[in-house]
Amino acid sequence: MDKFVIRGGNPLVGTIRVSGAKNSALPCMAAAILTEDQITLENVPQVRDIETERRLLASMGAEVGQREGRAHDRITINCRTLSDPVARYEIVKTMRASSLVLGPLVARAGMARVAMPGGCAIGGRPIDLHIKGLEKMGAVITQAHGYLEARAERLRGAHLVFDKITVTGTEDLLMAAVLAEGETLMENCAREPEVTDLAALLTAMGAHIQGAGTSTIVVEGVTSLHGARYRINPDRIEAGTFLIAGAITGGDLIVSNCKPAHLGALIDKLQEAGILVEILSPETLRVRAHGPLRAADISTEEYPGFPTDMQAQYMALATQAEGVSQVRENIFENRFMHVQELVRMGANIKVDGSTATVRGPARLSAAAVMCSDLRASASLVLAALVADGESILDRVYHMDRGYERIEEKLRAVGAQIRRMGNIFPDKNQEKTDD
Ligand code: EPZ
Repeated sequence: MDKFVIRGGNPLVGTIRVSGAKNSALPCMAAAILTEDQITLENVPQVRDIETERRLLASMGAEVGQREGRAHDRITINCRTLSDPVARYEIVKTMRASSLVLGPLVARAGMARVAMPGGCAIGGRPIDLHIKGLEKMGAVITQAHGYLEARAERLRGAHLVFDKITVTGTEDLLMAAVLAEGETLMENCAREPEVTDLAALLTAMGAHIQGAGTSTIVVEGVTSLHGARYRINPDRIEAGTFLIAGAITGGDLIVSNCKPAHLGALIDKLQEAGILVEILSPETLRVRAHGPLRAADISTEEYPGFPTDMQAQYMALATQAEGVSQVRENIFENRFMHVQELVRMGANIKVDGSTATVRGPARLSAAAVMCSDLRASASLVLAALVADGESILDRVYHMDRGYERIEEKLRAVGAQIRRMGNIFPDKNQEKTDD
């Protein structure tokens, strides 16, 4: 199992480039199921979850082109030969976002068998809202032996109101609606940029969608969709992680190929904490430490609020701030797995229900720590970059799921980080979260 060895103390200086958004690429890859033509996606990150989805689509009979040479960020998918609309547990257990094929399979093939994802490190992660929406659109859904089976001659447009805001629920049902008969009105939708990315691809494929990126989306179903080429947006969470890396190490970092417009809540919070964040262009940010970090509270919310996917990274920063920071996690019920590892490095953090109280500044000392999920891993990397000594981070396959070549990117701007162990620990990979 791969490990990272990180020696803290180096300020990060230079330019670090952001890759495409994993959480946009995953639904966009699933959207290829909706047509018999070829879909070409650009700016797709080379991360484990994308390879997992490639395997999933191939297991159903799709042709998924290999990345070639300089076009390493380009993926071509052709689902003309889709023959087996089944998402098997062996794949689904390693990536919950596999449930994103549910809506497209029912819309395209009239049926789907998808292993129930089960819970994960950060919470129960049910998909009851996906199921409820498909049933409202006329799908007959049964559950047995850990699998969910959905059938529908042709889905019908419906009025869907989400009980809770769900990102992949919105995406799954949006993909179901584009080939449904008639109009679908979806309310209380997720407004994340990843939803907007998916809607842009679907529109390029010939779908009729209004309101993506707002709480209310209207879809006029069509009878078929054609191929398209689409460039995925930059990963806002990777960009946010780099902003905190520059701040926590007292560096001066240019974050390129990002979208500052998607990072408003985080930028505001970092500035409140006394960090200099400048928008140099619509694709470039600059972050500099500017005197002592100040404590500032966060409360995670759906977009455009402070993202839950940045909570763990922000907590690492808060350990270095002067004062008390309250970190409230409102989206997932168990997203404090990084706390105990940070405490082992010397952080002063107390958890009470969904709120963690962080007292700083705390001098962090290097330690052997364990990654538990994707963003907890990022939090431990950030802490190790400022800890005194050499830390060993185990189970970095969690990190590899959503961060492309992270150690190379960080090393290029001055971090002392290297990877140890075998390169592809797939055989050891346990059930993981999204
Ligand atoms: C997406 O997960 C992201 N994953 C997550 O990113 C992200 O943390 C999350 O949205 C919230 O922003 C992908 O896009 C692949 P939700 P998703 O459905 O869609 C509850 C990362 O780090 N809920 O918006 O699974 C759910 O339990 C990953 O990149 C239901 O109750 O999250 C949660 O409490 C981690 N029933 C809340 O809604 C449902 O049917 C929000 O979940 C669906 C969700």
